[in-house]
Parts: sequence; structure tokens; C-alpha cells
Amino acid sequence: MNKINNIRDEFPILNRKINNEPLVYLDNAATSQIPISVQNVMREFEQTARSNVHRSVDTLGNIATAKYEESRNLVKELINAPSQNDIIFTSGATESLNMIAFTLGNKIIEKGDEIVITIMEHHSNIIPWQQLARKKQASLKYIELCDNGELDLADARTKITDKTKIVAVTHASNVLGVINPVGEISQIAHQHDAIMVVDGAQAVGHFPVDVQKLDADFYAFSGHKIFGPTGTGILYGKQKLLKKMPPYRFGGEMIAHVTRANATWAQIPQKFEAGTPNYTGVIGLGAAIEFLNQIGIKNIQVKEKELVKYVLPKIENIPGITVYGPKEWAKHTGVISINLAGIHPHDVATAFDELGVEVRVGHHCAEPLMTDLGITATVRASFDFYNTKADADALINAIKQTEDFFNEFR
Ligand code: ALA
Repeated sequence: MNKINNIRDEFPILNRKINNEPLVYLDNAATSQIPISVQNVMREFEQTARSNVHRSVDTLGNIATAKYEESRNLVKELINAPSQNDIIFTSGATESLNMIAFTLGNKIIEKGDEIVITIMEHHSNIIPWQQLARKKQASLKYIELCDNGELDLADARTKITDKTKIVAVTHASNVLGVINPVGEISQIAHQHDAIMVVDGAQAVGHFPVDVQKLDADFYAFSGHKIFGPTGTGILYGKQKLLKKMPPYRFGGEMIAHVTRANATWAQIPQKFEAGTPNYTGVIGLGAAIEFLNQIGIKNIQVKEKELVKYVLPKIENIPGITVYGPKEWAKHTGVISINLAGIHPHDVATAFDELGVEVRVGHHCAEPLMTDLGITATVRASFDFYNTKADADALINAIKQTEDFFNEFR
């Protein structure tokens, strides 16, 4: 665990102050911080080897292409994909999910078909399906929650039927901090010949993910939440489905041949990577995965669990606090959503900020879930492996001070 504690030096931002208080960064579910080693890899590439990829056959072009493809290999290993040809680089999880909906989804969904998602999805795993369902006169169904904040598997079994063509589920909720049984839901989906799509934006980088074990047909996530740069994302897809999937965008490098009247497509994955990609970003993403591998994903998981085990019972014991999602620490990722009785979440965030504690407030791009919970917003603290027990104590202190401050005016 020492390795983890020392690694805070890789993140100089963690030593800065906010409002003269030490920064307590608890907004990792929105974006994680980026280590110096990853920044260095990108800067060195820009300064010594910048060139476009998959185009020039000169020395620089070859170096750039080799580094870019090495990142694809690192992604493949990170999620245990069968081949690096199953990995498509995108701008983020949002683009990955849109890509499936508007290519394969558009091709296979017909009038009367059903798409099944869950009530805890992020908007990026709701709206593409809403739009597709509307366009095709298909229907969109939601798997509901149990009272304990976990997904209702019995409801999943009812909602997923032979009419279901696509099931799209988040691996871990960005609001409730709950990990969903996507392997089991995958089995149910496949019993009905439906395609299983997983939004892994809050999962990868926090615990081991094996797309083959999950039997996911598609798996989407973002680079900026796993210590990489913004504007990088991944879509994993099974080859048999990627072969059926039409291109998402058209242009350079995604073609085999072009005539005046027609075009044929390049091999997968190039078929889905039209135009100059974010190559420096992708190379940085590779460096981020190497960084993650050095620490060890299991060590990260253990560290985050320790922090949640420490902080969650303390939060639950504070009078006037509502915790959303499972109450047991063992069922939580590092994401904890709360509300303080009678204090607007935005006021809470402002009060926390005065104390240097950075959290996210709002609907967290999950408005249907908020409506279901009967609220408009929560205060969300999200821990990563570089957070400490002192950060957890600072959060507890911030909650208590905020309550005391607002209670004075009652
Ligand atoms: N999806 C990210 C979050 O939950 C941005 O904050």
C-alpha cells in the first residue's frame, strides 16, 4: 500500500490549495487526475515524434503508428478482449454508445422491437436509445431498482423478452455507487438473442473488468476517468457484431477503395476510425494504462474499498443525512451520493468548496433516476485510490460544519 501512498507525488494538483485550504479532490467520478508520467509521455511524443498515424511510411509516421497501436494492445489486455481488432478508439464513452445506437442499432431495430436499459443510466446511455426508439417506433423499457438501491434482477427477467433486441446497462452507477450484475444480465439478454451493451465509464480503472467473462457484446468507457487525457474513449465489440456494424463516420483512412460513385470499407477497427484520430491522446491513454498496471488494479480496488469502509458508516451516522444507493460499504464503489436535510445541494457544494472539498452536485446526468428517487439533485463524493483517510475525515468535517452553519439560521 506504500506504493499507492507515495504515488500521490505523481499528482501535483493534490498539493494545491483551494480557498487557502488543502485540496480534497472527491470528484473522481467526473474526471480523475492525470499523473506526471502520462503528461510526460504525451509531451515527449509531441516534442520528438509527432506525426500522423496509419498514413506516412517514414520514420516518424512509423513510430507514431506503432505507439498508437501499442495503446490498442494495452486496452485489449486491460479488459481481456480476445483481439486488439475488437478495440475502437473514440472520443469518450458517450461517442462509443452513440456509435452503437446509430450504426448497428439503426440497422437492426424495427418497429415494435424493444430496447431495455435501467433507471440508473447516465444520459449518454439513455438518450441515444430514446432517439433510436423514437425514430424506429420501438419501445424503451427501464429495469427498476430494489428498495436497497440495487438493480432488481427479477425485474430484468420480466423486462427482457424475445422482443428485446438490445440491453444496455451501466456496470457501475455514477450516482448510487452500486456495481450491477452485468454478467447475469448478459446471460438473460443472450437467452433472448439480444445484444448486451455495457457502459463501463465508472468501472474500468476501479476494479478488474473482463469483457469475455461478462460476455458483453459491447463495452464502452472513457480515458479521462482512468488517469488518461480527455477526448479519448474506447468501444470494445465482438468481431461478429463489428462485422455487421456499418461505419459511424465517413472520410479518410476508413476506406479500402473509393471510386467516383462508391466506396468500400477498411478492415476493422480502421473502418470505425475516420479522419485523423486523437493520436497524442491515445498514446497518453496507453501510458495511463501502464501507470494503472504498475499500481495494480486489485490494489486500487482494495484501497477504494478501505476508504469506503472507513467513511460510509461515519456518514450514515451523521444526523440529517440521506445516503442513496446500497447502505453496505462492501456493495459500493468509491461513489457516495448524499443529501443534507433542508440544505440545497448547491449550497452544500459552495460550503464544501470554502473548506477545499471538491465534490459534484446536481442530477449527475441521470435525471430519470433523480425523478425516481423523488429528488432533483445529490451531493456526490467520489473517491479514487490516491485519496486518503485524511480526505475522508475532511469530508466528514465538511458535512458537520455545513450542517452547523445552516442550522444557525433555522
Ligand atoms: N459522467 C461523469 C459524472 O458522473 C461526468 O460526473
